[in-house]
Amino acid sequence: MLPMTRFQTLVDDAVAAIDAAGDLAALNALRPNLVGKKAPLAEASRSLGAMDEAERKLAGQELNAARQAVQSHLDARTETLRTEARRAQYEAERMDLTEVRGELRRGHHHLVTQARDRLEDLFVGMGYTIAEGPEVETAWYNFEALNIPEWHPARGEFDTIFVNLGESEEVMLRSHTSPVQIRTMENTEPPIYVVAPGRTFRTDAADATHLPAFNQIEGLVVDKGITFGDMAGTIDSFVKAFFGAEVNTRLRPSYFPFTEPSAEVDISRADGSWLELAGCGMVNPQVLRNCGIDPEVWQGFAFGFGIDRLAAMRYQLDDIRELVNNDVRFLRQF
Ligand code: DAH
Repeated sequence: MLPMTRFQTLVDDAVAAIDAAGDLAALNALRPNLVGKKAPLAEASRSLGAMDEAERKLAGQELNAARQAVQSHLDARTETLRTEARRAQYEAERMDLTEVRGELRRGHHHLVTQARDRLEDLFVGMGYTIAEGPEVETAWYNFEALNIPEWHPARGEFDTIFVNLGESEEVMLRSHTSPVQIRTMENTEPPIYVVAPGRTFRTDAADATHLPAFNQIEGLVVDKGITFGDMAGTIDSFVKAFFGAEVNTRLRPSYFPFTEPSAEVDISRADGSWLELAGCGMVNPQVLRNCGIDPEVWQGFAFGFGIDRLAAMRYQLDDIRELVNNDVRFLRQF
């Protein structure tokens, strides 16, 4: 506590003003009126000149004490307000990591995985089992057993990616899922009802309708008395289950070395146009023979769909590359 002096009122006023300043800006605005040349205590020092020496000495000491009192109160208040301001800033900038919990989204499967799962479910529901095969294949499985010999022009159409493993045999990334047909027939006694989903690879450059690494689902049925009608009916029921009952299918004559006769599957679109979706056909007797199955006893049909295209069509994507861009804003929609 200061002793009561002639400057006590000025000190009290200054202290009250300092305490009333709510933030640093207000305090800084006050500052010239507290400690500057125009401050009341500075004005008061000018009155010292008129005093006699003893009086002036005493008054001078009192004035210094008064100024120090104001200055230290100002410093203390400045420090307090500064600390408060800093705390408010930290509070405002704080990242409350616990908040993130409330926003956590459950992830979900990629669009293509969802389509693949759905396709598997549909076929399993029709009594099929799932077959799998390697993504790296030999020429026998990818081509020869499927009735595509070395000289066959269809080989070129597959734009195959070859791999050099130093093997004497030609080795490649499978260009379709059809080799799984061969592997299944080699290992399984008919009757056979399988679908084989999986990744396939071609040298295609990516564009709105192509990806160099894509997914197909292959279907294979081998049983007694199987007809082209069975195939058409199977494909139509699967398409209706996948796209909706209002979607129709049609078959157009086509050619694949591994089926005879062969067809292309089109599906109807809302605008009345037709869209090519898949290849299919009755398993070529030579392919059955290549796998040790007697074509006089067993017949079959096969089909191959592009899963990415099925997904793109179902969700009306303009550009199939969206499927592999991995932009979560896109993927989250599905
Ligand atoms: N493997 C063919 C392709 O990738 C698609 C295909 C056509 C598969 C006819 C089949 C089929 O099983 O019977 O172009």
